[in-house]
Amino acid sequence: MIVSTQPTYRFLSTLGLLIAAPLLLAENWKSLEDDELHDPSNPAVNVLQQPAEALSVLAPDGAGNKVDWVEAVRLGQIAPRSSLDNSVVPETLDTDIVMSNTLSVAPVLFPHKEHSDWMSCAMCHDSIFVAQTDANAINMSKILEGEYCGVCHGAVSFPLTECDRCHSVINYTQMAPPSSGVPVEQR
Ligand code: HEC
Ligand code: HEC
Ligand code: HEC
Repeated sequence: MIVSTQPTYRFLSTLGLLIAAPLLLAENWKSLEDDELHDPSNPAVNVLQQPAEALSVLAPDGAGNKVDWVEAVRLGQIAPRSSLDNSVVPETLDTDIVMSNTLSVAPVLFPHKEHSDWMSCAMCHDSIFVAQTDANAINMSKILEGEYCGVCHGAVSFPLTECDRCHSVINYTQMAPPSSGVPVEQR
């Protein structure tokens, strides 16, 4: 987008964005009547909350279902229950694992904290990953086929097209993320 440096025009383009933003936001989520999942002729559709109403108030994201769920937890916008009756004390772990078998793209940073905020250790250990560094023969084609990280990413968590969110370790001397990425130091 071309943004003018002239104060008046800058103001006008900001105004334009403000007017356009709610319209763009509404386009992020299909209404229940149009999502091709719900039966529009069923009166129960009117009882359910519309996705745009529920999701537009949460931290925005450009991909997937347009909500940055990790940020939504960080900001306290949502507080997922540990179990149906909230009786389980969740176990958290705050360690990052760097995976650098990534050829010419930036190495991957796997954060335990952001995962254990959402799920128990048993979701991954040891059915998806052996709990030992470098003990898992992970590669991109297996992930794209729905193994390892691909059990969830691309299915229920952010999509695999978001390369930089996993390949986020930037070694300033030679590595570059697949496209523009946020350096780990700035997260
Ligand atoms: C959900 C996390 C995730 C996303 C999203 C992701 N990758 Fe990966 N990628 C990995 C992991 C994990 C590895 C294996 C790293 C290791 O074993 O050291 C990997 C490996 C790779 C490799 C190394 C070669 C290979 O076949 O394993 C390349 C190249 C690669 N990814 C490119 C991409 C590109 C391009 C995208 C976006 C289209 C992408 N990745 C999206 C997690 C991800
Ligand atoms: C979303 C999946 C996932 C969840 C949930 C998860 N882990 Fe992990 N864990 C991994 C991955 C991926 C690795 C790295 C494996 C590799 O390097 O090959 C790992 C590695 C480990 C390791 C070995 C490396 C190290 O840091 O010593 C331990 C120990 C571990 N996890 C413990 C836990 C515990 C305890 C929990 C729960 C609080 C947990 N993990 C939750 C995916 C997960
Ligand atoms: C068992 C499910 C599961 C597996 C397996 C899994 N993830 Fe995740 N991951 C999640 C969920 C759920 C979230 C949080 C919600 C979201 O971002 O969609 C998340 C979030 C993330 C984030 C975002 C952290 C942030 O600060 O925004 C990264 C990075 C990530 N995962 C990388 C990986 C990598 C790399 C692997 C494989 C080594 C992996 N994940 C395997 C479920 C999983």
